Amino acid sequence: MSTPHLEGSKGDYAPVVLMPGDPLRAQFIAENFLVGARQVNSVRGMLGYTGTYKGVPVSVQGSGMGQPSIGIYSYELYNFYDVQSIIRIGTAGGITDEVKLRDIILASGACTNSNFADQYRLPGTFAPVASFRLLRAAAESAEALGQRVHIGNILSSDTFYDDADSLADWKKMHVLGIEMESAALYMNAARAGREALCICTVSDCPLRQESTTSDERQTGFTDMMELALETVTKL
Ligand code: HPA
Repeated sequence: MSTPHLEGSKGDYAPVVLMPGDPLRAQFIAENFLVGARQVNSVRGMLGYTGTYKGVPVSVQGSGMGQPSIGIYSYELYNFYDVQSIIRIGTAGGITDEVKLRDIILASGACTNSNFADQYRLPGTFAPVASFRLLRAAAESAEALGQRVHIGNILSSDTFYDDADSLADWKKMHVLGIEMESAALYMNAARAGREALCICTVSDCPLRQESTTSDERQTGFTDMMELALETVTKL
């Protein structure tokens, strides 16, 4: 069995999948953190691997950038590969004052300017939220690792270059950071009756015109990786 975008057979993915946006990050995780990793996807260069971490089966699959892209991959993982939990590991722009470069955000909720939810034809506004089980496991893992994390709302935007310059408005609502994928992931999880969480490291703070160097991004990414993998061992 394969899907339009994934070539693996049923059983090729572990029940828990980590999803970085960049497929080369998936390869990096497989090569540096997983034991016995084998490649399970290369369609469109969107690399995916399955291996183990501390004896627990885990997959890593690139999601691409933006809600349409993660929407496709997460839908296929939940609905065609019986994946139970997806943990997105990505970068975000920090919005509120207490969020600094390289900090980690656990997105308990994901606001969005996307109309992804329109497909569900709900008579109101859907609130995309993380799985409490995953969120709690991640918060406990962060505490055990001595990592300080922020927990709260983020914004999943459909635009990276925003003509309306709306970050100051989201800041008024104490939205911690901006990225481009989580709300669609949380909605797909809700619709499929599965679990999702987004963990982000802060790569830039657009309102303060600050950004990390590529070395800092790598270190921040490694800390987040460790947090995501330790979370998987607690599920
Ligand atoms: N905007 C959108 N997505 C992002 C950003 C940003 O400033 N930083 C990292 N991901």
